[in-house]
Amino acid sequence: MPGKDKNKRPKLDLNIFPGNWTVTNQQMFKAFDLSFAQNWNPATFPWDELDQKNFDSKERIAQAYWMSKLALFEKSGIGAFGFGAVRAAELNMDDPTKKMLASITYDECRHDEVCRRACDKLCPNWPYGYKPQSDFEARALRNIQALYDDGRRYWEGFLKAWEYLPPEILFAGFFFAEIGAETIFNAMRQTSKLGIYQQTFRNITRDETRHLVATMALLRAMAEKFTEEQKLTITRQMKQGFIFLSPLLYQHKPEFWHLPADFDKVDQEMEEAARDAGLGVLTLEEKVKFWREAIEKKRSEIEEMGIKVPAIPELGVEGEVVQVKKNETIATSF
Ligand SMILES: [Fe+2]
Ligand SMILES: [Fe+2]
Repeated sequence: MPGKDKNKRPKLDLNIFPGNWTVTNQQMFKAFDLSFAQNWNPATFPWDELDQKNFDSKERIAQAYWMSKLALFEKSGIGAFGFGAVRAAELNMDDPTKKMLASITYDECRHDEVCRRACDKLCPNWPYGYKPQSDFEARALRNIQALYDDGRRYWEGFLKAWEYLPPEILFAGFFFAEIGAETIFNAMRQTSKLGIYQQTFRNITRDETRHLVATMALLRAMAEKFTEEQKLTITRQMKQGFIFLSPLLYQHKPEFWHLPADFDKVDQEMEEAARDAGLGVLTLEEKVKFWREAIEKKRSEIEEMGIKVPAIPELGVEGEVVQVKKNETIATSF
């Protein structure tokens, strides 16, 4: 990872005490405060709509497939923001920042819980304890297992990055995946045909909008003190974010993901079946369009901080050309 040596820093004094109740970041405080008013309970939603009897076996598996694919990214959010919340407290960052990171962690748990509940209704024991009954099911399970196995490399890299990158850089990089998260749920709340999904995606979108406001506030607070080189690291992290999210929001990018050669073919098959069942999964063209529009919407805000947007030709996004090397550490989140 570039900057590895130049960013070497003295050992940090990490302790959660004495703590503080200082509010310096007003935007962050507002986002955190809103999390109380926007609290929601997935247990009250009409999960019976996902009763097994309402679907054929392909429709059930395909929906469970997509939900368990989403869960990989929700889990990465739980880990990244949970770790970030502890680190922010150890670094004595301002109070709402610490609390907002904890609040985002809780939200990502709630999103993962939505995935778990959907799978439990559609296809009990999916994916961790499921025995496939057909080739279709075996292909779906193989993809999910490959993704989860490879997820281990993401987490190892994420943890290692805190040893050699300044924490401000890592915190500042949290925003990009939230653009992606807000984009996909905002689109799917409109494309899904089942009430249960419309309701959950509407609530998740609201959470993600809050996450985006908060992580942009975090970026803004950090970027003020960044050197040009550090700003370029953020550009690089945005590109890494695109690569990390690619199995969900595009097609898997081999710069990071080591997945089976026919992963995308199987993925497409599953996503099509899930779409037909009413889940509202986007087509590749829709993903590209919404992803690009979401980045363009944020471009001026990012550029005003002196941070360049990376070129992402896959989406038609123009910007700074950044080559992400094979196996480069990905220190972004969802
Ligand atoms: Fe989430
Ligand atoms: Fe999020």
